[in-house]
Amino acid sequence: MERVRPSPPSVPIRPRSVAGGLLEVIGAIHLEVLEPWTVAEARPREHSALLPAALASSPEARFVRRVMDAREFHVDADPRRAHALPAEAFTSEAFLERELATLFAKHWTLLPLRASHELRDDPRSLAEMVRTRGARVPVSVFDRPLFLQRDWDGGLHLFPNVCTHAWHTLVPGPGRERTIRCPQHGREFDCLGKFVHQPGFEKIEGFPTKDDDLRDFPAAEWEDLLFACLGAPARAFDDVIAPVRASIGKLDLAGWRRVPLVGEVRELEGNWKQHAWNYMDSLHIPYIHKRPGGLADAVDLASYRTELHGAASLQWAYAKDPAHGFEPGVLDPRFEHAEKRVYALWWLVFPNLTLNFYPWGLSINLYAPVPGKPQRTLFHWYHLVRDPARYAKRDKIWMTQVVDEEDVDALTQVARGVRSGFAPRGRFAGESEKGPHWFHRLVYEAVVEA
Ligand code: FES
Ligand SMILES: [Fe+2]
Repeated sequence: MERVRPSPPSVPIRPRSVAGGLLEVIGAIHLEVLEPWTVAEARPREHSALLPAALASSPEARFVRRVMDAREFHVDADPRRAHALPAEAFTSEAFLERELATLFAKHWTLLPLRASHELRDDPRSLAEMVRTRGARVPVSVFDRPLFLQRDWDGGLHLFPNVCTHAWHTLVPGPGRERTIRCPQHGREFDCLGKFVHQPGFEKIEGFPTKDDDLRDFPAAEWEDLLFACLGAPARAFDDVIAPVRASIGKLDLAGWRRVPLVGEVRELEGNWKQHAWNYMDSLHIPYIHKRPGGLADAVDLASYRTELHGAASLQWAYAKDPAHGFEPGVLDPRFEHAEKRVYALWWLVFPNLTLNFYPWGLSINLYAPVPGKPQRTLFHWYHLVRDPARYAKRDKIWMTQVVDEEDVDALTQVARGVRSGFAPRGRFAGESEKGPHWFHRLVYEAVVEA
């Protein structure tokens, strides 16, 4: 029997922010889906009058009820019995809002790297910009304004870039100071985000409270890569990233050089999950990447493996030509082979980050959802170079550009199919599609079993 989660009790919300009306409607149906973004302490009696009955029966609200209640969104834990997520999960604005409030509030996401044009004026990475105590820099995650702050004891914080008084931007640009002072009316916070002082508030009753402090989102670092979780993380960052770090053995990201790319950030067709699903889809390699001398020719397909490691998944294969693989003794010893060499390690860190290790270095893809546009993805692409000589051969040997183009073309066609109205729920080809199944199941668990 498929397990269907019973519908949790409905709890009205206390409107707290300028979040979209749709989000509030969704929250009105199920309190916990909005935690921790838009729901403070629920005060059902006090605010129930704020929720017109029309809202509870709006199309968005009905959709969320269906997601929560119906079998049509269920992804079974057993790939042999599971159906893929329905097309609606890839086209619906309500589903995307729900993902932002649930899935992206409990999984780690990479903070986008600084744009190449910004590096021309100041070549430091985000991590370097917040290396010294007191340093801060504004960032944006899924269109939400935030800033990174290094405290005086070396801890890294991610705060909303929104003043708790009347919502002015707190940090307009990079800087370094002991306190954060709001430009609008002078409210001050310390480097831990605690309210310190504001002129005129000396005799205000019941003030300050924790609502006057800045919300402190978890942040984590791996060399120049910074990560954040916009809520309470389901897993500690170190646990998520440990299998990735172990797999690369003696490789050390420190010192790998960022090389600017043309089209580092592109808005592409297709929901962000389609891009991640496509990435997990090794079954398509002999079809989509079949051109002579292409990816299917470059790897030893019989050796291709998909490994599932909690919130991260590794795909890897030996190179057909050992000269195109990692040198011996570099990667984790489990990959060692008398004659064969690993062509690449392709990691997907759930939900939307891929870390692709090649002998030349690291190619990073981030599939960022675009709020309000469920059928578009902000595709970030960065290169960190370990070996410049082999990097120069990346397109010839590792075909980074061609594989990307072949995938984008396939995704464009799938995106058309998704919105055609003719897209039934698919099935998974057992073991050979265990990666796509793993991805769909994790989405289901995060969004529907929230
Ligand atoms: S908005 Fe920041 S002090 Fe008023
Ligand atoms: Fe592909």
